Amino acid sequence: MESWKRLLLQNKAWSQGKVEVLPNYFKELSREQNPEFLWIGCSDSRVPAEEITGTSPGELFVHRNMANLVVHTDLNLLSVLQYAVDHLEVKHIIVCGHYGCTGVRAALQKKSYGMLNTWLMHIKDLYSDNRQQIDMLDEHAAARRMVELNVQRQVANLAKTEIVQRAWRDQKRPEIHGWVYDMTDGNINGMLRLDHESDIDEAFQLNTGL
Ligand code: CO
Repeated sequence: MESWKRLLLQNKAWSQGKVEVLPNYFKELSREQNPEFLWIGCSDSRVPAEEITGTSPGELFVHRNMANLVVHTDLNLLSVLQYAVDHLEVKHIIVCGHYGCTGVRAALQKKSYGMLNTWLMHIKDLYSDNRQQIDMLDEHAAARRMVELNVQRQVANLAKTEIVQRAWRDQKRPEIHGWVYDMTDGNINGMLRLDHESDIDEAFQLNTGL
């Protein structure tokens, strides 16, 4: 059997299984979504957001890209963020990086990955900013530390957006969480948490009148 056919068969089995337990499952789920969380994670196939957090359809609004970056000119991410914050009114945004991230590892190399290098430039900048600390570590530890620093940077990038600043000012939400997933044991470590009382550089804050 061709590999893609297996996916369709598994889908059929999954949907039938759901309906057997709860006959109205899809009818109710399709009515509306009311997720409490926006998940920003890596595209890596080994970090499935719902599975590692034990969540079900309807609970996570998800955006994934290479190395879970929050880039201020990325219209895709900004659209997801704005929809999640302004319309879905999520209470929490989770940036989840993971050890063993190939995107982060690639950014530490001098190889050419074509267009991907432009995307990875954001991680190269982060490495450049933290060079002294990173260069003291062996290759394995350096890659792990970069994953942690990358999550911290992306959380900070989120906090600086007008979308988050406006929501913090007007509604005192969402909280932003920085997590790292360890693929070797399946555990997520919560590293940091920011909320509307966090100290963000004044340059990014909004006036009350806007
Ligand atoms: Co990754």
